[in-house]
Amino acid sequence: METKSNIRTLGRSGIDVSALGFGCWAIGGEWQDASGQPLGWGRVDDEETVRAVRRALDLGVTFFDTADTYGAGHSERVLGRALGKRRDDVVLATKWGNVFDEDTRTLTGSDDSPEYARRALTASLERLGTDHVDLYQLHLSDADLGRAAQLRDQCEEFVREGLIRAYAWSTDDPARAAVFAEGEHCAAVQHSANVLQDAPEMFALCEELGLASINRSPLAMGLLTGKQATGRALEAGDIRNTPPAWMQGFKQGDGADEDWVARVDALREILTSDGRTPAQGALAWLWARSPRTIPIPGFRSVTQAEQNAGAIAKGPLTAGQLVEIDRVLGR
Ligand SMILES: NC(=O)c1ccc[n+]([C@@H]2O[C@H](COP(=O)([O-])OP(=O)(O)OC[C@H]3O[C@@H](n4cnc5c(N)ncnc54)[C@H](OP(=O)(O)O)[C@@H]3O)[C@@H](O)[C@H]2O)c1
Repeated sequence: METKSNIRTLGRSGIDVSALGFGCWAIGGEWQDASGQPLGWGRVDDEETVRAVRRALDLGVTFFDTADTYGAGHSERVLGRALGKRRDDVVLATKWGNVFDEDTRTLTGSDDSPEYARRALTASLERLGTDHVDLYQLHLSDADLGRAAQLRDQCEEFVREGLIRAYAWSTDDPARAAVFAEGEHCAAVQHSANVLQDAPEMFALCEELGLASINRSPLAMGLLTGKQATGRALEAGDIRNTPPAWMQGFKQGDGADEDWVARVDALREILTSDGRTPAQGALAWLWARSPRTIPIPGFRSVTQAEQNAGAIAKGPLTAGQLVEIDRVLGR
């Protein structure tokens, strides 16, 4: 972790983080929407989560991404507990915009008002056990642009009050990301990107506007680990077992989509170069894709934490390997 290439700066904020962050959706455990649709990744063992977070810290990971809504508040609580006295050793990112009931672990709606942003931030600080959030992110990916401009200004106010250090929008729409980027303390955009789902327009925008590119689902929700199969149902409370319309790569009660599995298989040899595991190769692709990328793979165990953190030392794929991957995928 000593060399500069293992560190990324969050856009124009000057805040340095490890080139790999840890995504904290899965560790929220089970939660659902009002119709009973699972929104989590099934059951989790909180004690294993705590051990995994602390192992990641020991291995040099200094960036953690969660959201108030993951596990209806549970992810923030367990992350705050795991960090404990080491909170100031890390850069903490969380999100707001969804409304949920902590007691019933249910998503109940969304709220894009500036007033709600303040209530949500106050609640996140309490759950995380901290007096400030380093990167505060709007979780409503398709929020109205006029509203977003108000929320951006509200975030500037939070910066002035010392409640947050920087902010970002979690969205796959470059036009939306650009509206947030007009704010002085907007540091990043969080967007979907992995070796199977390239995001050239967003990478270009980040380069143009000096934003960090925080990559969600860098392992394609686990598909790129190579362990997901077709015809093998996932756990009942796992969102991947009953994928909503927006989710790609999984089939209702039937495991992974065969086309996705075939593409992962086709990439295996390149991704596993230099002793990498497929997951490490997928992270290496993102680092090679742009100097601004910060993948944030999810995790549920110490073993996964060690393997993902271990990708840092192996570094990015080569430019030649990127070309070869595009050829294999027909891009
Ligand atoms: N709208 C948003 O803002 C948004 C949306 C999605 C994600 N995110 C963020 O991005 C983060 C990552 O995305 P993601 O959670 O969608 O998926 P991901 O990082 O693509 O995949 C993570 C999953 O892959 C499996 N895995 C991870 N490391 C592994 C390893 N070394 N070996 C084997 N399996 C491994 C684990 O699931 P299993 O063990 O259960 O297979 C893990 O939960 C989230 O945690 C969240 O912080 C944000």
